[in-house]
Amino acid sequence: MRVIAFLNQKGGVGKTTTVVNLGAALAEKGRRVIVVDLDPQANLSVHLGLEVEDGAPSTYRMLLGEIPFAEAVRGTSTPGLAAVATDLDLSGAELELANQFGRETLLREALTQWREEHRGQRGAEPADYVLLDCPPSLGLLSINALAAADEIFICVQTEFFAMRGLSKLVEIVELVQKRLHPELKIGGIVPCLYDNRLKLAREVLGEVKGYFPGLVFPRGIGINVKLAEAPSHGATILEYAPESAGARDYRLLADEVLAQEPAASAPADGARPEAPDARSEEAPAVADVVLVPKEPARDVEPAAEAES
Ligand SMILES: Nc1ncnc2c1ncn2[C@@H]1O[C@H](COP(=O)(O)OP(=O)(O)O)[C@@H](O)[C@H]1O
Ligand SMILES: [Mg+2]
Repeated sequence: MRVIAFLNQKGGVGKTTTVVNLGAALAEKGRRVIVVDLDPQANLSVHLGLEVEDGAPSTYRMLLGEIPFAEAVRGTSTPGLAAVATDLDLSGAELELANQFGRETLLREALTQWREEHRGQRGAEPADYVLLDCPPSLGLLSINALAAADEIFICVQTEFFAMRGLSKLVEIVELVQKRLHPELKIGGIVPCLYDNRLKLAREVLGEVKGYFPGLVFPRGIGINVKLAEAPSHGATILEYAPESAGARDYRLLADEVLAQEPAASAPADGARPEAPDARSEEAPAVADVVLVPKEPARDVEPAAEAES
């Protein structure tokens, strides 16, 4: 399982768009994905058409420990894609969480407990990807994401001010590495809202590549109006405009992300052998229920057995 925090303290650079649509593209390719809305603005939840009614499971209640992670996870209209949604309550969370013991690691603890309790037989993980959508700040919610993640993906908009703020961001990442999470690494830089016809965008991209050698996803996400329209339909780009350039870019990004998977952690050939295991356990996790693939997982078993 890869836990990835999508980070940039700047707003409007494409974090939420990337978490939703990369998540959907990974799910389309057979991965079990959970996206977590950590932004009090709830853009991710709205994008996925998820409303959080009063008292309903939310990021906030999960962080406060009122409900376990599994209970906060809910299904979306995309098979294989589940979400932890938030409501505007999270805006007070930063203050309220500040008084909690172990306030920087609340999300990490919730996730760790969930991974331990919902491990399938043979140690199968309860999901393949957990994508954390950070707010546009480096406050307590983002720190929680960094403490919980294995990797950070930084979304950068290829415009003049892109480099400003990146050094601050890297400073915070280093601080988290030093104090909370030595294994945390920057796993990728996603150029967003990229217009390769603009000399400036190409120059900025070159600068970003120089700053993060080998980490920049080569394709990037172009500007595509369908990506901006999809949220108001409560749909991912793959649902709203599956043939659009935006959908193509996120599918290609998903391929690049999958290519990073170490061979051992990738689900075995052919599909998801974890699902039958997880389901055979006494109380399946919510995530198991909402994440089981559409096609019967049983079909996988004979093939997997025949191979061994
Ligand atoms: N590649 C893109 N092309 C066109 N519009 C985009 C693209 N990526 C994001 N947007 C739009 O830009 C705005 C900011 O994107 P968003 O993902 O919400 O950024 P962040 O989460 O970093 O604040 C949103 O209105 C979104 O729909
Ligand atoms: Mg956002």
